[in-house]
Amino acid sequence: MAPADLPVTIPDFARWKQQGRKISILTAYDYMTARLLDDAGVDCLLVGDSLGTTVQGWDTTLRVTLDQMVYHAEMVARAARRALVVADLPFGSYQASPEQALFSAARFLKETQCQGVKLEGGRRSAEAIRALVEAGIPVMGHIGLTPQSIRRLGGYKVQRDADELLGDALAVAQAGAFALILECIPGDVAARITPKLAIPTIGIGAGPSCDGQVLVTPDLLGLFEGFRPKFVRRYAELGDLVRKAVAQYIADVTSGGFPNDQESFR
Ligand code: KIV
Repeated sequence: MAPADLPVTIPDFARWKQQGRKISILTAYDYMTARLLDDAGVDCLLVGDSLGTTVQGWDTTLRVTLDQMVYHAEMVARAARRALVVADLPFGSYQASPEQALFSAARFLKETQCQGVKLEGGRRSAEAIRALVEAGIPVMGHIGLTPQSIRRLGGYKVQRDADELLGDALAVAQAGAFALILECIPGDVAARITPKLAIPTIGIGAGPSCDGQVLVTPDLLGLFEGFRPKFVRRYAELGDLVRKAVAQYIADVTSGGFPNDQESFR
């Protein structure tokens, strides 16, 4: 097996940061999609609680449960051959105490083949991050626009308090996280934070200076058309393709053109 094909491990993240090699991350929620993304060579699959909006159709991530996350994480991790798989701790599954965080996070390592968990929050989550890392559970942090705090933040807005963000980033890194997501912050703030950390920063709406990037896969593929943030680049318009393919199928069934002789048994 060539080194490039070896499964990605947690220490690769710090090494890639040192080497200046950018890290690619995409969300995945099911086996079929995870297999495609892994085949394409993405470094890390994030089983994001964004599945609350993209898969479940809610307007926030707040309703997603721990059982649902474990269910999706199990499918994604089973598909991954090379990519590292990280799963989100959903709202209400870690904020009460480091003990609660530990019991919740341990489920992903016991019941799925995920290698780590992600949780939101800077200083306020540092104690929980430390408890998980001490228990041997790799943690990816997430600061800036943290969707689980949407009610307090009052909407999906760019977070601009540079000193606050830097303090949060340092707290997450010092607590032992292996990577840090920066969501919806000005590019110059991400550029200030990134060189101050030994762990990689992963941007989503945080400009080009981050050590890696993450996108929500249905956004990138044009499958989720409800909401299109400025930072999303559409690499395909699968929504259009699906509608066209299905319209053709319906027309063929209606006209009697499907199935034909080759598609039938004798
Ligand atoms: O839930 C998710 O998919 C995320 C990414 C947007 C970073 O947290």
